[in-house]
Amino acid sequence: MSLSYYVPCMAEIDQEALKKYSFAVWSYKQGEVVSALIHLGDRLGLFHAMAGVGRVDSHTLGESTGLHERFVREWLNGMAAARLISRVDDTYELSVEGAAVLADEEGAVTFSAGAFRGGFSPDTLDAIAESFRTGVGITYEQQGPSAAAGLARMTGPWTRHALVSTLLPRLDGVVDKLNNAARVVDIGCGAGVTTCTLAESFPNSTVVGYDPSTTAVSQAQELAGSKGLDNVEFIAAGGEDVPDDASADLVLTFDCLHDMPRPDITMEAIRKTIKSDGSWVIKDIRSNGDWDRDKRNPLLAMFYGFSVTSCLQSAMSEPGGMGLGTLGLHEAKAREMTAAAGFGRFTTHDIAEPANQYYEVKV
Ligand SMILES: C[S@@+](CC[C@H](N)C(=O)[O-])C[C@H]1O[C@@H](n2cnc3c(N)ncnc32)[C@H](O)[C@@H]1O
Repeated sequence: MSLSYYVPCMAEIDQEALKKYSFAVWSYKQGEVVSALIHLGDRLGLFHAMAGVGRVDSHTLGESTGLHERFVREWLNGMAAARLISRVDDTYELSVEGAAVLADEEGAVTFSAGAFRGGFSPDTLDAIAESFRTGVGITYEQQGPSAAAGLARMTGPWTRHALVSTLLPRLDGVVDKLNNAARVVDIGCGAGVTTCTLAESFPNSTVVGYDPSTTAVSQAQELAGSKGLDNVEFIAAGGEDVPDDASADLVLTFDCLHDMPRPDITMEAIRKTIKSDGSWVIKDIRSNGDWDRDKRNPLLAMFYGFSVTSCLQSAMSEPGGMGLGTLGLHEAKAREMTAAAGFGRFTTHDIAEPANQYYEVKV
């Protein structure tokens, strides 16, 4: 196959616009390599070692982390150039805000360093490129163990800090049911952070996590084991396969419906698994289904990037997939699809969380 390329006539080019455009492109390259620096800072314990210690030089930081001073110094200069740490003479400091975003995984809801997985493996990138040719994407399982683990570290801080304290009290009678003895189904549970948080917070209830990724399920089982939980179970199966016995008091689909090839079939299965007075909570990516409104989001390109490389891959991983992708389950779509599956009540809970929206759906 021969490809022909458009070659612009240099006379047509506005030099100022060219400069700006080149800068925009190289800024994304800078983002790629600064992302690698953040990944290394997280992986090597550098942020942790800098948190709360004030100004530090590269020798001291090298000693406290057991790392080679020359590499530590270059990393510090890169992070200072990225304005993520400050440099005065030969000393460097991670601010309190920096520590809350990059170091404090257990204590801060804003912790984000876990989202920096260090890029994609060449095999994953090959498979993503191939999906453009075949129209069939790769599942989360095929995206490798770091996909499930990375997602768990990305969604973990909100789940640990806000799920029980902020979201659950807004739901119709759910906390009382959970305190008594509720049966909870967590569909698309991934590495089990939400499932285990609920099981730990409500020991009288039982929580069952479903996910088709065996990698995610084994990570979830490990997490439950490390916490000694005996009221949680994980099943390697999709949301389509939940039992049709009207037994669930609470069903969760957290950031997963837009990843499913057939979310409509899962919604029909939820209608059959939920009790007549049960609650179903959908957490899905904040979007409007309208380009002009969505483009006000300064991180919109990142969400489309997540989609092309991960969510849409999964949503197209079977021929005939609906292909909603990261931004595809906006409120209007969620209302339309849940109504089609036989649900009559739909409430939006506007929680101050920039990335996601929360919907409570009932029969
Ligand atoms: C973005 S992750 C979300 C994981 C977890 N709920 C969280 O909030 O961290 C999406 C998950 O949906 C799962 N998934 C994909 N297709 C599914 C299906 N048909 N049924 C259930 N889960 C599915 C993937 O394996 C993946 O673990």
